[in-house]
Amino acid sequence: MHERFRFKNKNEIIQKALDLGFELPFSDDISPLLVPASVEGITIPNRLVVQPMEGYDSEPDGSPSVLTRRRYLRYACGGSGIIWFEAVSVSADGCSNPKQLRIGLNNVSSFASLNDEIRQNAGQLGIRPFLVIQLTHSGRYSKPEGKPKPLVASRNKILDKVVPYILTDDDLKRIQDQYVVAAKAAASSGFDAIDLKACHGYLMIELLAAKSRQKSIYGGEDPADRFRFILETIERIEAEAPGIIVTTRLNISDRYQGGFGVDLKGQPDFTEPLLLVEELKKRGMRFMNLSMGSPYFNPYVSRPFDNPLPGQPVPEEHPLEGVIKMIKGTSIFQKRFPEIYFVGSAYSYLRQFAPNVGAAVIKNRDASFMGLGRSSFAYPSLPLDLIKNGKADPSKVCTTCSGCTRLIRNLSPGGCVIRDREIYGHELKKLIADGK
Ligand SMILES: Cc1cc2nc3c(=O)[nH]c(=O)nc-3n(C[C@H](O)[C@H](O)[C@H](O)COP(=O)(O)O)c2cc1C
Ligand code: SF4
Repeated sequence: MHERFRFKNKNEIIQKALDLGFELPFSDDISPLLVPASVEGITIPNRLVVQPMEGYDSEPDGSPSVLTRRRYLRYACGGSGIIWFEAVSVSADGCSNPKQLRIGLNNVSSFASLNDEIRQNAGQLGIRPFLVIQLTHSGRYSKPEGKPKPLVASRNKILDKVVPYILTDDDLKRIQDQYVVAAKAAASSGFDAIDLKACHGYLMIELLAAKSRQKSIYGGEDPADRFRFILETIERIEAEAPGIIVTTRLNISDRYQGGFGVDLKGQPDFTEPLLLVEELKKRGMRFMNLSMGSPYFNPYVSRPFDNPLPGQPVPEEHPLEGVIKMIKGTSIFQKRFPEIYFVGSAYSYLRQFAPNVGAAVIKNRDASFMGLGRSSFAYPSLPLDLIKNGKADPSKVCTTCSGCTRLIRNLSPGGCVIRDREIYGHELKKLIADGK
């Protein structure tokens, strides 16, 4: 049964996990989070990752705005080893909202100057963060003018709300060209790596699951056909934008019927995701970020929370169970592919205990990095506090209230309404005043 976070000490949270039938990894010693790693020859100063978090605050041409820069400079001053830029669209019609960041050859300098500023600010702490940009096409969740304009890989009876446009193979080839252009722009902007986003219901993960796609080289029953789009895109980027590291944020299970990494009932089945990772490994990928679920269909899977969005049901699953399922799923991949660095997701529900759990996970080699999403909005300086004090400050943590999700769902700029109140508390007040 769902429950809000009320754990006062480590014993209570460990006991709750046991009551739910799970063992929660926990380490009083957080030092495993502070051990550097070398990814493809680049030293990453610690195991703490700012997860990609959309902020809906770009300039009209998709460039970072003053507010975008503020978000990223807060991360830079917080001490994380990796800053994983949010979903940045490769095309105007594949945007999730009118203010999604978008990258192309026209706005390389705006991303480059932000990257320079990030490195300068982090450099004052003696840190050189590894910078990843998440490239995406929003597919089914495209809303370029603020209204849904779904562009899907295939029909899905539980997700389709209207009769969607099914992208043709020619459309997909054009989209692939846009990925390659965006990748070239990202390489020129000084990113260390490009993430081809394949999670949370957007286009690339839909293609991986598109069994019902007819007469297409990018879909059908054979996984080799469904894997073709992402693998071809990687090969083209490696040929046309050489030197930049290519990675992916991959859903290892959508946890809904017709999704990727599920059986016929929509329960996790990692057979195909493991096969895909094997293919990625063969092509040299040594660094990946794993997630599960869809923020639109089963948000409690990808981001376990205390409060659902207004009007949405409270899920049955206990949030701690959601956190542990993500840890266990990631561990299966880390154990199978020890040579790959995997970033684990969905730790923010754990509040001040997240570093203790993340440290235990890394010590046990169940993942290589701990990713923090909402926590990075709320408490970007958590890594610095760990470096200085060896623990997190409970008064600064994310309360998993879903306020940031509520903001972006209503197309407002996204950030923490609780801990970064001056800007985002004000945005929430505006929404409430408008009756949203
Ligand atoms: C407001 C908001 C925006 C997000 N934007 C992205 C995104 O751009 N790309 C992505 O892969 N995940 C995105 N996520 C998911 C987070 O990266 C992360 O996986 C999720 O919040 C769970 O981690 P946490 O428990 O640390 O928050 C977003 C989540 C939220 C709440
Ligand atoms: S608004 Fe702040 S406290 Fe609430 S979920 Fe988002 S980051 Fe966490």
